[in-house]
Amino acid sequence: MELRPLGRTGIRVSELCLGAMTFGREADEPTSQAILDRFLDAGGNFVDTADVYSDGVSEEITGRALGAKRDAIVLATKVRFPTGPGPNDVGSSRRHIRLGVEASLRRLNTEWIDLYQVHCWDARTPLEETISTLDDLVHEGKVRYVGASNFAAWHLATALGTAELHGWEPFVSLQPEYSLITRDIERELLPLCRARGLAVLPWSPLGGGILTGKYRRNEDLPTGTRGGDSDEPITFTYRLDDRAWRIVDAVGKVAADTGKTAAQVALNWVACRSGITAPILGVRSLDQLEDNLAAVGWELDEDHRNALFWASAFPRGYPYDFIEYANH
Ligand SMILES: NC(=O)c1ccc[n+]([C@@H]2O[C@H](COP(=O)([O-])OP(=O)(O)OC[C@H]3O[C@@H](n4cnc5c(N)ncnc54)[C@H](OP(=O)(O)O)[C@@H]3O)[C@@H](O)[C@H]2O)c1
Repeated sequence: MELRPLGRTGIRVSELCLGAMTFGREADEPTSQAILDRFLDAGGNFVDTADVYSDGVSEEITGRALGAKRDAIVLATKVRFPTGPGPNDVGSSRRHIRLGVEASLRRLNTEWIDLYQVHCWDARTPLEETISTLDDLVHEGKVRYVGASNFAAWHLATALGTAELHGWEPFVSLQPEYSLITRDIERELLPLCRARGLAVLPWSPLGGGILTGKYRRNEDLPTGTRGGDSDEPITFTYRLDDRAWRIVDAVGKVAADTGKTAAQVALNWVACRSGITAPILGVRSLDQLEDNLAAVGWELDEDHRNALFWASAFPRGYPYDFIEYANH
């Protein structure tokens, strides 16, 4: 696996990141351990989890699975979503971040977190409070770098400006949803990250599994899948609109043409987009991991890239269309 710089930092991460959201959920502990071991054997060094995944169990499994290999791994986790019922058990306040980082360090069984990410914009907390707290954590050695996830472009641009103004540690990465199905970040976030040198770490690069082709038009969602087993299947089905089916068809056709699997085609498309650092893999089994590991190390030809690009076209809207026209 190739290594890529984590934005403008001095460290390098594998071009695929292993997501641990399935650990303690679809994947039991032995399976999670085997997935992590295989990922590291394949040259991966970048692992992403969060305090809220499986109510902390994902971090605990990750901590135990890493064990003596901790030093070789770039370990990312997150804070912001509710960790308890209280009004202050949520958000990116100084209080919640402080409690959150200590709890994550304990569960991960480590002295430091390499990339500590704010899981989502928090409209209630002043940005200065969040960024100065993160800056303190870096200076205390609990955290090496800080990142953002699920921010709008103006949030991120304001956060970068605020950090610059005060000389605080800036966000070095953004973790947004990005796949052939969800391309919204191409409007503003991706150009912003490219311009400011932030690493981009796409989540749900397979659209939660839709792009593997396992769901079929006019058929029930199969059990044993995220869609079929969802507590809210209607929410999942909502994503399966005409555009999504068009994309699934296009991915299937490119897969048939190239001899790759649908998952490999969809992941390769994301991994090769300009400005992308490392898509985050989500897998429940070693078979899925094996399939997805083979998504890099090759490139789709231009015709196939174009077929996927146009099948997944989406309305840019104002002012993006206007600006593109004016600058043509
Ligand atoms: N920052 C955020 O807000 C946020 C949100 C979500 C995720 N994430 C991060 O991103 C990571 C990946 O997200 P994701 O799990 O949604 O990614 P995804 O790649 O879009 O979906 C992964 C799911 O697709 C199915 N799958 C994966 N590979 C497959 C294969 N080769 N063949 C058949 N099915 C396959 C599996 O589900 P089934 O087997 O159940 O069908 C798997 O759990 C997470 O682990 C987490 O670290 C972050």
